[in-house]
Amino acid sequence: MKFPKSVNVLLLGSGGRENAFAWKIAQSKRVAKLFIAPGNAGTKSCGINVDMNPTDFAIVKQFVISNNINLVVVGPEDPLVKGIYDYFVSDNDIKNIPVIGPSALGAKLEGSKDFAKNFMIKHGIPTAQYKTFTKGNIEEGYDFIETITAPYVLKADGLAAGKGVTILENKEEAKKELSDMLTGKFGAASSKVVIEEYLSGIEVSVFVATDGKTYKILPEAKDYKRIGEGDTGLNTGGMGAVSPVPFCDEAFMEKVRTQIVEPTVEGLKADEIIYNGFIFIGLMNCGGDPKVIEYNVRMGDPETEVVLPRIESDIVDLFEGIAFGSLKSRKLDITEETAATVVCVSEGYPGDYEKGLVIEGLETETESLVFHAGTTVKGKDVVTAGGRVLAVTSYGKSIVEAVNNSYKTIDKIHYKGKYFRKDIGKDLMPE
Ligand code: AMP
Ligand code: GLY
Repeated sequence: MKFPKSVNVLLLGSGGRENAFAWKIAQSKRVAKLFIAPGNAGTKSCGINVDMNPTDFAIVKQFVISNNINLVVVGPEDPLVKGIYDYFVSDNDIKNIPVIGPSALGAKLEGSKDFAKNFMIKHGIPTAQYKTFTKGNIEEGYDFIETITAPYVLKADGLAAGKGVTILENKEEAKKELSDMLTGKFGAASSKVVIEEYLSGIEVSVFVATDGKTYKILPEAKDYKRIGEGDTGLNTGGMGAVSPVPFCDEAFMEKVRTQIVEPTVEGLKADEIIYNGFIFIGLMNCGGDPKVIEYNVRMGDPETEVVLPRIESDIVDLFEGIAFGSLKSRKLDITEETAATVVCVSEGYPGDYEKGLVIEGLETETESLVFHAGTTVKGKDVVTAGGRVLAVTSYGKSIVEAVNNSYKTIDKIHYKGKYFRKDIGKDLMPE
């Protein structure tokens, strides 16, 4: 099976990741029309924004039919965890329109930490030791905390808007957190709690495309999660990213491939989990050995803003391979250049922040790719509309060169309270 000669694409989502996808999809000669729902001010220059909620599947279906959509690309996890793939295949009117993303069962790899841990153990994939607790066996949870050493890693089982992981140094605090979580701190998302062994090392994000039979490993990336320089302060959606990651040399990536990626794809097959999409594996490099911290069932944000710019091949061709089980024969050319992205956020983020601030300087000629995250159009202005506002991506021969190119571009863009980290990639640069 193939796409028709010219392809109409619907891309779901509204962040920097989706702006990067829209930019890459719009470059494909195979695309006739690209719609982004709901999109942002940046996706507008790649296609047509549609005011539609990606989790309202009935509305999405109507749109797909009335606009002759041939391909649906899902950016965020929410529609996947809510079963958009299954909704399409179980409806005769739209069952032949491919959705890039896993089935609801596959999406549990992100939607349930307990499910993901079980999957890893079952298929021999290296990960931290763990135990899962509910209100019914909370006493066993307290006993378990007594038997392990600090730091204590507690994870809400379900999706908790990126806030479900707590790492504590103190035993009593860990017990209190377990109790708070199990009694509704994150609602139903924390009715089960995973407690796991602390892994020390450096994190890296590995991205895999799969058609359910074979896989391709996309460029890896490192992201910077904390608001403050030196990785301090509160967790955010991500303040920057770089690709490639120097410690991911051939030997390390070969371990990732044989110990993690292959058993993951084989495990999906063995468990009959339908998966035509991206797997984002959050890894810890523990002294040269990779261990899985988490699976996500979508691309990362802001990692996508450096991963896609390094892919030279046609993305729609890759989607065709993912959708129709012909990924093996598809080309995946990757530039050796480094890509770095620096995220500009609103003042106050990740806490409360003002929206609707005018962004100036966006029309200035630069060498960077200025992806929009939280922006919208108001009259003739582009204004801030989220915590993460822009992801400014640049290429370079080294990490230093790439990030410096982004800082030069950021200097030309202005809005009240603009904040960004000035140490993106610094930990990976030679002394
Ligand atoms: P998550 O919200 O699942 O992305 O987790 C947030 C962060 O917690 C991860 O990116 C890691 O930095 C950290 N983390 C999660 N699990 C562990 C672990 N077992 N050991 C050390 N750090 C962890
Ligand atoms: N950058 C981490 C994520 O997308 O979850």
